[in-house]
Amino acid sequence: MNSSIMNTYNRYPVSFESGHGPWLKSKDGKDYLDFAAGIAVNILGHNHPDLNEAMKVSADKIWHLSNLYEIPEQEKLAKKLCSLSFAEKVFFCNSGAESVEGAIKIARKYFYTMGETERNEIITFSGSFHGRTLATLAAAANSSYLEGFGPIPKGFVSVPFGNHEAFKNAINENTAGVLIESIQGEGGIRVIPEDCLRAIRKICTEKGILLIFDEVQSGVCRTGKFFGYEWASVKPDIVTLAKALGGGFPLGAILTTNEVAKSMVNGSHGSTFGGNPLACMIGDKVLEIIEKEKIITNVSVISKILFEGLSDLLKKHDNKIFGIRGKGLMIGIECLEKNSLITEQAFKEGLLLVNAGDNVVRMLPPLNISESDALLGIEKLDQALSNIKL
Ligand SMILES: Cc1ncc(COP(=O)(O)O)c(C=O)c1O
Repeated sequence: MNSSIMNTYNRYPVSFESGHGPWLKSKDGKDYLDFAAGIAVNILGHNHPDLNEAMKVSADKIWHLSNLYEIPEQEKLAKKLCSLSFAEKVFFCNSGAESVEGAIKIARKYFYTMGETERNEIITFSGSFHGRTLATLAAAANSSYLEGFGPIPKGFVSVPFGNHEAFKNAINENTAGVLIESIQGEGGIRVIPEDCLRAIRKICTEKGILLIFDEVQSGVCRTGKFFGYEWASVKPDIVTLAKALGGGFPLGAILTTNEVAKSMVNGSHGSTFGGNPLACMIGDKVLEIIEKEKIITNVSVISKILFEGLSDLLKKHDNKIFGIRGKGLMIGIECLEKNSLITEQAFKEGLLLVNAGDNVVRMLPPLNISESDALLGIEKLDQALSNIKL
């Protein structure tokens, strides 16, 4: 196709015309079961009536206001996020990368303000993904994403995933923070063991280092808790959110404590669109629906169904897939065959899935999905795997 759009994405040859719950209808009338959910964004599916209503009401009020003025919708959403977490202060932005970039700035400024001006290094883990800005790419240290974009911002030390010794050795007097996904999403649904997260917390506390959780993909109930790190009962210092927070509307947030936020004074950070009334009203409605529709309970019910269904498929297709990882509705299928072959076959069967690193196929369905649609997803994957002739 002769497209005027920059060639940065490899797209499926489909365009969708309408959506309802976990279903999308293509222009040529075919139905697709959406187990990608805009890559962990549409947690309430497509066209949720209450969310649409909130959008319409807000659109008829005020779309945008700059942060030169008080924005009550922002205040309300920030209070809710604090009440759901360790946090006492929130900064709103528009995307995941922006929230991680902001978290890095906050960690550095915290130590700078205390006179520790050299303490600016952030430790990260191999296989992580934190976004596509220069600093977030430098943080994740994935060379294939960095190639050609140098000079690369300094101040990041990547240690091998799961190597505690390497992690401990990377800490020095310049370490400001540890940036970690409680479950690596793009890296292939790699769950960080709970005792490992607790050990990292302990070391951070001992050394006075800030623990930053990137919950952009795992946050907002995706794993069956509001934040993925809650499974380990650890308290972060900074948390980033985006994706699901706006249920499909661009909205990101950085959460932290009063102590850490104290260096973020007037003028130290900003965003034109961050925290606009429209986005915040929608974010607030997302949180209201999560509560009203008992989304966390649904995640645990559906998760069990999907894990059971997938373990049956593991036995049946043991020459194509060999393992399941994840928590809640953040599920990864470990493939023997090339993962893209499986997602392409699933696509032909009308099931949308997402590839991830480590040759994994991701299932990220909307969190309000029904049991019958979850089972249908398993059926479609079964058929897709059967279609692959070795
Ligand atoms: C854990 C994590 N952090 C950050 C990002 C970047 O988010 P965005 O694409 O909204 O900038 C992503 C996106 O996939 C992510 O999974």
